[in-house]
Amino acid sequence: MRKFSLSKRMQAIIDTVPECSVVADIGCDHGKILCSLLLSKKCRYGIGTDISEMCAIKTAELLEQCKISTGEVIVGDGLSTIEDRKVDCIILAGMGGREIDRILREAKKTYKYLVIQPMNDVDILRQTLLDLGYGIQKDYMICERGQFYDIILAYDDGDGVTKYSKYDIMCGLNSRDNADFVEYANIHIKKYKDSLKKTTSRESKKELKRKIKYLKKVSRRK
Ligand SMILES: C[S@@+](CC[C@H](N)C(=O)[O-])C[C@H]1O[C@@H](n2cnc3c(N)ncnc32)[C@H](O)[C@@H]1O
Repeated sequence: MRKFSLSKRMQAIIDTVPECSVVADIGCDHGKILCSLLLSKKCRYGIGTDISEMCAIKTAELLEQCKISTGEVIVGDGLSTIEDRKVDCIILAGMGGREIDRILREAKKTYKYLVIQPMNDVDILRQTLLDLGYGIQKDYMICERGQFYDIILAYDDGDGVTKYSKYDIMCGLNSRDNADFVEYANIHIKKYKDSLKKTTSRESKKELKRKIKYLKKVSRRK
């Protein structure tokens, strides 16, 4: 059976997925996340999807090499591939935030759980999740080799009652207990302070001051 390694980012995504019957990994590419979830039996059945046929083939090959018979692969765009399937948990990881945002807004229904790891524009995505009526259970940051990644576990809370402050929209549910987030905050506070010295635009100054204030507040909260 083929063995493969997982990055810290991939392991964090896997750890964030709740135990469930059917998981769908949208944009599965190499297939490592899907195969790990099926090998560990955290999820009983898995669907990998990708817009690229080449990437879908990579996942299909890994499923075969790992002798996994509880998974399948579909080629296609976003959630359109699994619209008529019963799926408990959707993973949308490693894609741009705006692409994930589009995929979620085009969805014909909501899902019990979403595990989301965008490469950028996470604040836009947080607002979209709330707009679509999702609650947010986990929303934290990890650092791997100097790169920072946000990971969100959202759930269909029916009434859409989750309240997120303006600080949470920008910084998630991180706090001073998360050393990776504190490192991120310190780096970015310095970066924004440097930009503040250089910029002449009143609007930019206002925005930079707002970001510094949020990062300071959240990196000190318990
Ligand atoms: C960088 S890879 C991330 C792979 C894996 N999800 C991870 O986090 O390690 C992004 C994958 O998403 C796929 N992708 C991009 N847009 C997509 C879409 N609209 N629907 C399905 N797959 C998409 C790409 O083809 C690519 O394989």
